[in-house]
Parts: sequence; C-alpha cells; structure tokens
Amino acid sequence: MSLVLGVETSCDETAASVVADGRRILSNVVASQIELHRRYGGVFPELASRQHVLEIVPVIQAALSQADTELSALDAIAVTSGPGLVGSLLVGVNAAKAIAWARGLPLVGVNHLEAHLYANWLIAPGTTAGRQDEPVPRLPLLCLIVSGGHSDLVLMTEHDQYQVLGRTIDDAAGEAFDKVARLLGLGYPGGPAIQAAAQTGNPSAFELPRALWKQGYDFSFSGLKTAVLHIVQEYAGLPAQPSQAKAQAATAQEPPPKRELPVADLAASFQAAVVDVLVEKTRRAAEELRVEEVLLAGGVASNTALRQEMKARVRLPVRYPPPVLCTDNAAMVAAAGHFKFRTGKQASWDLDVCPGLGLV
Ligand code: KG4
Ligand code: ZN
Repeated sequence: MSLVLGVETSCDETAASVVADGRRILSNVVASQIELHRRYGGVFPELASRQHVLEIVPVIQAALSQADTELSALDAIAVTSGPGLVGSLLVGVNAAKAIAWARGLPLVGVNHLEAHLYANWLIAPGTTAGRQDEPVPRLPLLCLIVSGGHSDLVLMTEHDQYQVLGRTIDDAAGEAFDKVARLLGLGYPGGPAIQAAAQTGNPSAFELPRALWKQGYDFSFSGLKTAVLHIVQEYAGLPAQPSQAKAQAATAQEPPPKRELPVADLAASFQAAVVDVLVEKTRRAAEELRVEEVLLAGGVASNTALRQEMKARVRLPVRYPPPVLCTDNAAMVAAAGHFKFRTGKQASWDLDVCPGLGLV
C-alpha cells in the first residue's frame, strides 16, 4: 500500500488528506475560509494567506490523526504548487517542503487543475466502503475542468499526458457564477446560490447569449455576465446601455420604471446558458475525438444541471466526483501526487510556487 499526504492551499481552503494507493481516502480535512471572505464578496488574497498560516499545521495534524497514521508511515507528500494565489500557495508548499525535508520523504509538486481531474480516481466516500475494484477512468478521456479560475477542455491520453483543446478567453465559468450571483444579490460563493435560486426559475425566461457556440473549443462568459447586468439595470430603472442613455438624454424621456427583479428566472436562464455552452463544446469534442469517457472536474462540476445535461447529451460514459471532491480539497492532490510519484516525478528542494501554472 502506498500512502500519500496531500496538501492544498492554492486559494481559500486549507486542506490536508491521506490517500492510499491514489484512490482510497483515509482522511480529508478542509478548513474553509468562506465566512472570512463573505463580507468582501470574493477571496481577499492577503487574508487568505494569513489564515493558511494559522490553519496549516492543525489541519495536517488532523488529517494524519483521522487517518490513524503518522508521518513515518507516509510514502510521499504531494502539494499544490500552482496555479493559484501566490501567498496562499507559498504556505502549503513551504509546509510540505519542511515536513518532507525533516522526515526524508519524497516531495511531489502537483498542478491544481490536474488534481481536480484526479478527483475522478478517488473512491467516493461512504458509497463503496473503500472497494479496490471500483473501475478507474479509462484512457484516452476528455475532461471538462470548470472552477473559479479555469474553464479548460482537456484531452488526457495517458497519465501526465494532456492536450488543452480549449479554455476561456475571459471569465472562468465559476467566476461568471460568482459575479452574476453578486449582481442578483445572492451572495458568495455564487455557484451554489445560483443553483438554489434557479430551482424555482424558468430557464427559458430570458434569452441570453451563448458565445462561440459553434466556434472551436474556447469559452467566453464575459458577454453573458454583461447581458445579465443590462437586465438587472433595466429592472432597477437604470438605462441598460450607454447608447440607450444617450438616446434618453436626447429625447428627455423619463427613465423606465423600477420593477421587481425576477431573480429565480434570471438565475435559471443564466445557469442554462452556461451549462448549454459547456455541454455543447464537450459533446462536440467527444464526438470528434475517440475517447472512452467524459469527466467533469472543479467546483462548477458539482452543479446539478451541468451533470444532468452532460449525461443526457453526451453519448459516452460521463463521470464526476461527489460535490465534496469537486470543490478544493487535498484528497485530489494526494491522488494526483500518487500517480505522478509512480511515474518517477519527484520535486527537488527548490520546488517553487507558480501562480500561473498551466496544465501543459
Ligand atoms: O474548484 P473550486 O473549489 O476552486 C477553484 O479552484 O477555483 O471552484 C470554486 C468555484 C466557485 O466559483 C463556485 O461558485 C463554483 O466553483 N461552484 C459552483 C457550484 N459549487 C461551486 N458553480 C456552479 N454550481 C455549483 N453548485
Ligand atoms: Zn480548485
């Protein structure tokens, strides 16, 4: 059995986990900073790194004790070295490096996006009681990684062999959820809030843009966010666009009356537009490339509408981690670290953080 300690501090979760053989979760501790950042409507980077400093040691200790193990029993330590917030990444990387050096353990640097992808290798907690015969994802596969910072459509041919087919040219999918939630007064984090509001809304109530619908595999969500902004402004009795403002000034018209914003309908229409684009591009890529499966990964992969639509429209097995393994955690880092370590990829003591690290 190979035991890997995973450490994750790339954004606003301080997390540590012990995973056996890259699949079986022995512990998965996540200290969330959501409450700390809520009042700012997003992650405040300096506060995040300071909080990581306070949490990192107790979180690692809790992960070891919940796994009923100790440092001497570990085979390696895996840590997220990028992409992410520089100050946040530094805390995890330095903690992992210090422990690895002091205990003479191999250190593995993990790409956060790769970690999200490898969450699909983990055996879902509680469901199979650690069965080793749970089938692993079959290669080659297509993975849609959708998080707060990324929207990447990735072809994985072998372990450690990736080709990024498309990525966002502006906002990430999760970022769009967070920004639109703020516009709708739904709070932070936006994804779960929009999903909840959308449950009682009509997804066809508003016709919203689907950017780059038929063009390539890149995504664009900033136009969609702006379209929602214009609707919100219109309902608030504000001129929706500068051109309209000019026209109104010219004709000295009264501004339009304020109306109550149909939040549920707008949330549902926005969610449907994002899901539609994500699914359509993935479906097209899955048909064009000969892959065995389609995987979803990243925080947005916990979105129920996305999961349902992907399963309904893609004619291949579609796999996604349980919600608790979609959002940031360290079990996925330990899983990715295990497979990397197995192929001989070990970091040297000069491992540094890389805030803009890409998959390839
Ligand atoms: O992967 P993640 O935890 O952190 C990053 O690596 O960015 O993703 C966080 C993002 C946030 O933007 C959050 O709003 C979004 O994932 N998210 C969701 C849902 N749950 C989290 N988006 C849509 N629907 C959800 N249910
Ligand atoms: Zn993430």
